[in-house]
Amino acid sequence: MTTFHIATIPGDGVGPDVVAAARRVVDAAGSAFGFSVDWSELVVGGIAIDTYGVAIRPEDVEAAGRVDAILLGAVGGPKWSDPSTAVRPEQALFALRGGLGLFANLRPVTIHPALVSSSPLRPELLDGVDLLIVRELTGGLYFGAREEPAGPPGDRRASDVLPYAEVEIRRVVELAFELAATRRRHVTSVDKANVIATSRLWRMVAAEVGAGQPEIGLTHQLVDSCAMLLVKQPAAFDVIVTENLFGDILSDEAAVLAGSLGMLPSASLGERRTEHGTFGLYEPIHGSAPDIAGRNLANPIRTIHSAAMLLRLSLGRDDVASAVEAAVSAALDDGFRTADLVAPGAADTGRRVGTTEMTEAIVARIAIPEAARETAAAGT
Ligand code: NAD
Ligand code: IPM
Ligand code: MN
Repeated sequence: MTTFHIATIPGDGVGPDVVAAARRVVDAAGSAFGFSVDWSELVVGGIAIDTYGVAIRPEDVEAAGRVDAILLGAVGGPKWSDPSTAVRPEQALFALRGGLGLFANLRPVTIHPALVSSSPLRPELLDGVDLLIVRELTGGLYFGAREEPAGPPGDRRASDVLPYAEVEIRRVVELAFELAATRRRHVTSVDKANVIATSRLWRMVAAEVGAGQPEIGLTHQLVDSCAMLLVKQPAAFDVIVTENLFGDILSDEAAVLAGSLGMLPSASLGERRTEHGTFGLYEPIHGSAPDIAGRNLANPIRTIHSAAMLLRLSLGRDDVASAVEAAVSAALDDGFRTADLVAPGAADTGRRVGTTEMTEAIVARIAIPEAARETAAAGT
């Protein structure tokens, strides 16, 4: 029996709630499909600041780089948010992304038909929405030189530098084109080339990559109008590729299409290959939701969907990933809803559930496809 190695980073707030849920689903899928997982757990984020005085220890970044994949909940919270402190939980994310070379962050946006009413957008606008945001994750403002606020009151200054090297742009745009080739064959490259120099470099490199792949459509879109189009005609997008900060902002905007911030998964990938696939870090795009932490209220679905991406991309188990995704769909079709998925004023379906009930509803709906069951029974 294959044993996969997954490191979990539960983190803070609802992180432990949603990671436990995803772990339960992967273990259940393992029993059904015949594999096991050797889980390890790293203390990272606010909890690491409390325990070790830093957001992540260097040896934990190293340990995270030795497994097949990482499943992360969320880090941060009001306890560690004082803007004047030098140590912040979010630093762990940058240490992991930068330290492990995870330069591409994939954030797919699809909408389950049963959740159309949970979105604030009119249903007809959501028809056909199936887009993928590819966010550059290890460059730009997040990793540029920084000067923290300093100076006399009334004249304090701060600065952040936004650097990009051609190679950083090229590799993520190339990945976006590769992914578009497996989808609807269109890339929208998002920049602010009318103002920002790095955006002009971005546009030049994107155009060069595009010129080599004429079978894939390429549109250059300014980030401000892209933000507008994402709510005006979201179904028009296939793959969106953009720099770090723009990708951060646009993906939260796109999450609203899917009904709730609890509904978007993500995969952060680099170049490292493992025995089974591409090494990666998987996490829901929501934060630690301190307002609902530890109260069995968190929606675990996108952490579970992130685990499905992990199964598919890092463990090479497309079959198991599809079974998990189908189980989530079935639970939603059967009316199970965490509180965040019930639109204000909507009729109560009678199946309003907490984190653990939603998780068990999904576990109960994991099914092995008939063909696979026959293969297993035949012992081949
Ligand atoms: P948030 O995503 O934590 O919460 C925004 C709103 O969405 C809240 O009302 C919350 O209750 C709700 N929400 C989020 N996840 C949910 C879920 N799974 N189920 C149901 N409702 C959910 O964003 P925030 O409040 O801006 O940030 C809180 C903290 O999280 C901050 O410290 C921030 O830095 C951190 N954060 C961490 C990550 C990460 O670890 N990758 C990402 C974003 C924010
Ligand atoms: C995300 C988050 C992080 C980011 C924060 C918590 C630093 O918002 O993963 O989208 O900005 O990258
Ligand atoms: Mn974000």
